[in-house]
Amino acid sequence: NGANTESRGACIVLEGLDRSGKTSQSTRLVSYLEGLGHSAELWRFPDRTTSVGQMISSYLSNESQLDDHTVHLLFSANRWQKRSLMERKLKAGTSLIIDRYSFSGVAFSSAKGLDFDWCKAPEIGLLAPDLVLYLDIPPEKAAERGGYGTERYEKLEFQRKVADCYKVLQDPSWKVVDAQLPIEEISKQVQEVGLKCVEQCLKGKQLSLLWS
Ligand code: TMP
Repeated sequence: NGANTESRGACIVLEGLDRSGKTSQSTRLVSYLEGLGHSAELWRFPDRTTSVGQMISSYLSNESQLDDHTVHLLFSANRWQKRSLMERKLKAGTSLIIDRYSFSGVAFSSAKGLDFDWCKAPEIGLLAPDLVLYLDIPPEKAAERGGYGTERYEKLEFQRKVADCYKVLQDPSWKVVDAQLPIEEISKQVQEVGLKCVEQCLKGKQLSLLWS
């Protein structure tokens, strides 16, 4: 039925604490989908290649200081910078596998104490993902994995707060995956729901906007 249900790519977001395995799983999902002949791209936020992304990157590496509200809006602006390209890609049939999105934006900023609804506001009107995969890991376990670098948010105390904020954001449509399972098992689960989502969008599904 008509223009609203045209075939398109799927927008799949992976979320989770630092060291939850999002990056590996996003990469694996892209390879899997490509292996099946689907067009798929790996995206990530923050996208550090844009001008706004460079400001964020220097903030994260503690090379610059910014007010919490300001950096929140930069993260959001960084997504707005990519919105039209995102829509074009999806409409052209390419699926986007995105390592972090607006949910990180809200979880990390509200973990600092910023008002939850204020944090959501600048995300309104961005494209809503078709699927959110949440890689679930207790903060203590993520910290044990090592590789917490020197970036601003990579501290156990803070990650505990982020985990709580993710819980507030989480809705029943999210696919929660136990990030402590063996990597192959996680991939299997991610691939199964990921492929289903891609096939559904191929058949035709209306794009929707945050927060709906
Ligand atoms: P990365 O390690 O995935 O590149 O993300 C960098 C950090 O930025 C990570 O600790 C999560 C945080 N973050 C936000 O605070 N707000 C956002 O909107 C996004 C996308 C990430």
